[in-house]
Amino acid sequence: KLRVLSGMQPSGQLTLGNYIGALKNYVKLQHTHDCYFMAVDLHAVTVPQEPEKLKDQSEAVAALYLAAGIDPNVATVFLQSTVSAHAELGWLLTTLTYMGELERMTQFKDKAAGKESVGAGLFTYPSLMAADILLYDTALVPVGDDQTQHLELTRDLAHRFNQRYGDTFAIPKGYFPEVGARIMSLDDASKKMSKSSPNAGSYIAMLDAPDVIRKKISRAVTDSGREVKFDPQNKPEVSNLISIYAQCAGKTIAEIEAQYEGQGYGPFKKDLAEAVVAALEPIQQRYAEIRSSGELYDVLRQGKERAGAQAEQMLKRVKEKMGYVVL
Ligand code: TYM
Repeated sequence: KLRVLSGMQPSGQLTLGNYIGALKNYVKLQHTHDCYFMAVDLHAVTVPQEPEKLKDQSEAVAALYLAAGIDPNVATVFLQSTVSAHAELGWLLTTLTYMGELERMTQFKDKAAGKESVGAGLFTYPSLMAADILLYDTALVPVGDDQTQHLELTRDLAHRFNQRYGDTFAIPKGYFPEVGARIMSLDDASKKMSKSSPNAGSYIAMLDAPDVIRKKISRAVTDSGREVKFDPQNKPEVSNLISIYAQCAGKTIAEIEAQYEGQGYGPFKKDLAEAVVAALEPIQQRYAEIRSSGELYDVLRQGKERAGAQAEQMLKRVKEKMGYVVL
């Protein structure tokens, strides 16, 4: 079975963007691939985190994976910080990464823009992400569009290492959803939907109550026309809503366009809200059960063991190649 690895930052509440862009594909891939899914808590501290919140949100990410349908007996679910090989290989790959490569990263430029002091971890973040992926001989990385640049760097670092020290790392590929690889903000379709947005109306959190979801969708910005048509160039807001609808209801874009022909945005938005609620409500119920049982810790302990064994092997190989004395 081909290896799959991916992760999400526990730096806020997971959104519909995380669900459609990545988590839905995690669930899909687990039955055909050897999967590793983590909460990337080491990445989260590249911007300041309250300790209590970090803990709660890390557990929330893992619990949402399970609630969305990841079976911990099939896939390995773990917290990045519990497998120390990530930080170690992260350092080794940082020494292989060029400043210019990191300076070109748009996520860094966006997050650093206008800030007076920017943590060095925010800058070297992509080298740690490369380590996450390369530690597991990963073939496929299910992510949204916004991670393309980081994946490209991962591939470059793998090639660079292999050239310098001999064949060691597999070269991973991204795996993207056909529809919704980039879900946009509800208040501004030029920005991606993000859990770190200060405006809660701009995103739908996976744990938003049904009435909150309905309200947010009814307030979502649209153009002044009335045609429900998928046209990202000229109708970015409506096209974004159609993508969300398609993914939540399991319909094609063409089916949705046909269904609302000549009806305007009102009925479309109403049904969209119900489709999102129907997709998230069962996940929310399972989430509550998982958080109130103790099962999460058993899953994470088992995940730490399985991922750790795998990662340690690779780290040892890397150290030997680089000339470290491995005892
Ligand atoms: P993060 O935590 O920002 O997002 C988690 C996943 O959700 C996807 N995503 C979206 N997809 C579509 N539309 C959106 N609006 C949207 N917002 C987020 C992201 O593409 C991602 O797949 N650097 C990563 C975390 C990471 C990682 C890794 C991922 C660290 N190490 C190793 C894969 C493999 C990040 O910040 O994701």
